[in-house]
Formats: sequence, C-alpha cells, structure tokens
Amino acid sequence: MSRESLPDVGIEALAAHIPRYYLDLGTLARANGVDPAKYQVGLGCRRMAVPAPDEDPVVLAAGATARLFDAYRIDPANIGLLVVGTESGVDGAKPIAAYVHRMAGLPATCRAFDVQHACYGSTAALTIAADWVAGGRSAGRKALVVAADIARYDVGSPGEPTQGAGAVALLVGPEPRVLRLERHPEAVHAEEVMDFWRPHYRDSALVDGHYSLECYLHAAESCWRRYREGTRAGFPDFDFLLFHSPFPKMARKAHRRLFDAAMRDGDVPAEADPAADFERRVLPSLWANAEIGNAYTASLYLSLAGLLEHRAVRCAGARIGLFSYGSGSCAEFLAARVGDDEAAWRGRTGLHELLDARRELTHRTYLRFRKEQADLAHGGSLRPPLPHRGLAFCGTRDDRRVYRDAESTAAPVASDVGGDSPAAAAVAPRRTRRVRNGGQPAPAPPRRPC
Ligand code: COA
Repeated sequence: MSRESLPDVGIEALAAHIPRYYLDLGTLARANGVDPAKYQVGLGCRRMAVPAPDEDPVVLAAGATARLFDAYRIDPANIGLLVVGTESGVDGAKPIAAYVHRMAGLPATCRAFDVQHACYGSTAALTIAADWVAGGRSAGRKALVVAADIARYDVGSPGEPTQGAGAVALLVGPEPRVLRLERHPEAVHAEEVMDFWRPHYRDSALVDGHYSLECYLHAAESCWRRYREGTRAGFPDFDFLLFHSPFPKMARKAHRRLFDAAMRDGDVPAEADPAADFERRVLPSLWANAEIGNAYTASLYLSLAGLLEHRAVRCAGARIGLFSYGSGSCAEFLAARVGDDEAAWRGRTGLHELLDARRELTHRTYLRFRKEQADLAHGGSLRPPLPHRGLAFCGTRDDRRVYRDAESTAAPVASDVGGDSPAAAAVAPRRTRRVRNGGQPAPAPPRRPC
C-alpha cells in the first residue's frame, strides 16, 4: 500500500520522561576551562540531563510509558505492538522492549522489539507502527513507540557539552488527536558515513563532530528536495519546522540550509529574514532541548513535546515538518498536522513537571555518577539504588539485570534476590505490574546542587 493511500494515522498520546538530575552548562564550561558562552550561545545548550546510576535506558523507557498510560488512562491490554527506538541497548540480544513489555504490563499477544539506527531509530519505529495500524494488522489495537537514550561522550571531549538523556512514549493509532501524519511520498536519505559511532566495547560514543554536522545538513537538504519534488509543497506551507537536535544550534543550521534552498527555489522572497523566520518557525520547539541536551532518538520527539507544551505559543491545527537524522546514516522528513484540541496534550506530556522536579548536580557528583553508572554495567554489581521512590536499575547478579519495581521503596540487595523480593520479581518475569508515576519523585523546593 502506498503512503498516499493510507487511512488517518498518527500520534494519539505523548508523554516524556527525563533523569532526576541535571548539570548546568556554565558549571561544565568552568570545569573544562572553556568560556561558558561557547556552550550556552555557540551550541545553544543551557543544561544537560544527567542520569543517576540507577537510571538506565530501560528505566527511562518504562518511565515514559508509565506516564503515558497514567496521563491518558490507557489500558495496556489494548496495545498490540511495542517498538523501542534506541541506540543505548543494554544487551547484545535482549531488547529494551522486552523489559518495558513486562514493566508496563503489556499482553503476551503484543509484539515487542527494538530498532536501531542512531538517532533515526525512533522515526523508523514510528513509521513501522503507523504502517502496522494503517495496513489493517492491528485489529483495533494500538501501537506503542518509545524513544529512549542516554547520550554520553568522553569527559573533556568536544561532544561532552552535548550530552543528555530522556525518553518519549507515543501511542500510535487511527485517531491521531495529537499529530496526524500526512500522506506523502517518502522523503528519505540513506548513505553509509562514519560520522558518529559507538563500538560494542565502549560506553561513550565517538563522533567526527564537524563532519557529522555536514552529513546531517546534506541529508536534510536531500530529504527536503525529495519531499518538495514529490508534493510541490514549499517552505511557507509549514507553520513550524522541527529538527533533530543534538544541540539547539544544529536546528538553526538546518533551518538556514533549507531556508537558503527555499530562497533559491523562489519559495520565500529574496528580502525575507532567515533569523526572524527561525524564531517563528523553529525556536518554539527548542526550549526543552536546551534544558535536557541530546537524547538521541528522543530528541526530535522532545522538540515536539516542547512545542505542544510551549507556554506562549499555540500550535493546535498547525502544519509541521519533522526532520529526523540518524548518523551512519539514515534521515527522513515527515509532514504532519497537530490536532485541533489542545486538551489532548496540554499538561499531559509531563514535561514541565519533570523539569521542575529536577535537582542540580555539582561537577564532582556528575563525574561520580558517570563512574558509578559505568561500574553498574559490569557483572556482579548488584547494590541498593539511591534513596528515592520508584523504578530503579540496581545492577547485575548472575549476569542478569535487576530492577526495583516502581511501587517499591525497598532496596533490593544481593541477598534479596530469590523468593518474592522485588528484585527477584524483576529477574524472574512471571508477574506483570504497572509502573506508576514514571518513577518520578514529588516536586521539591529549590535545593543546593548535590
Ligand atoms: N562564545 C560564543 N560562541 C562561541 C564561543 C564563544 N566564546 N566559542 C565558540 N563559539 C561557537 C563557534 O563559533 C561555533 O558556532 P558555529 O558553529 O555557529 O560557528 C560553536 O560555538 C561551536 O564551536 P566549535 O569550535 O565548532 O566547537 P567544537 O569544535 O569544540 O565542537 C561540535 C562542536 C558540535 C562539533 C561538538 O560539540 C560535537 O561533536 N558535538 C556532537 C555532534 C553530534 O552529535 N553529531 C551527531 C550527529 S547530529
């Protein structure tokens, strides 16, 4: 079935999840002996989300799913497909989707798998889910797409200020009250390039930074040209343009590349001001990215959440373009329309609540968290999570990952594993439980950095 003949399909519900802590980019710049303006103005980053050692990609993915189910009162029994887009896989064989399937209480009849192509994985997952719904295989059930990642580079490397982490869960179905995907010819660009990669033996990514930006821009223009040739739609047809955002300045560069192409094509008048156009069409979607940093597969959908939850900009009924880029590389441009009723998303994505509840880290604790998280990835590392309520990664025992369930405050330790302890329940997936509140602590008054 061609894209043009697909019935209505798109995003019915959207919710986010982010780590409980952040590092201010000014703090990082001072620690690295760099002018803070380079990170804050040059890259456009304000803060970056830093996962605590007990917040792994599974915890982020399950947290976003829990928030989605709670905020929209979704019955897990009605989900028939779960696709997780991620490049932060925790195992060479077992997908993150398998853990989320149990933690979210999805039925045994629900397929579950991960897709990987760097930051493009979530968009690949979304198109798979949309085609599953539109193709009639869903039999009235909905698809769940989750984008979840932790962006990590070496300490002191140029990529370090563009770290971050987060997850977004999307319910995909035939009643797209949040975002209806438009039917149009595929606008894809795929090409093998060595711009960003993470060998299996590393827990932080390697990036040929400036080359990766060129690859991204080339792919963006290529996708845009395919979209334009296939539809005859032009730049002014979009109220908002959302770009994959490894750092907010990248979206500005991508907008400029497409703006210049549109000017050459006569889509925008020669006297049009690219800066003003950027502020109107792109900037409203970037505020959350500046707070969270790069979340790889989740970044584009955090931009979408940011636009939907913008306190001053209204986007109900707006036509938007979304550009997704995954290094390596595969990229795609999608056109879509936001639903008319903002009650379908406003205040339901969790974005403001999550950001308000975060705690600031000192540079020293940020470094400690990195080390502890790396240690936890090794065999035999089981230990109690930090004192907080909710879902937590507790390390490994017998080469199996151990999670404390969301409703528990008990800290599973090695001796607890076995019998009926929460850790045993996580190791032996016999019971299904709903994760509640996204594992998020209640909002706290401002505190000193910890
Ligand atoms: N005040 C204000 N701006 C400053 C500044 C200062 N004191 N010092 C530098 N800048 C600006 C630079 O002019 C540049 O802006 P521009 O690109 O608009 O010219 C920006 O800050 C970055 O400076 P640059 O010297 O290019 O930084 P860098 O070489 O250390 O690294 C990246 C920048 C983006 C290459 C690096 O952060 C990186 O590799 N990030 C990851 C990229 C990625 O995720 N790729 C995956 C695919 S998208």
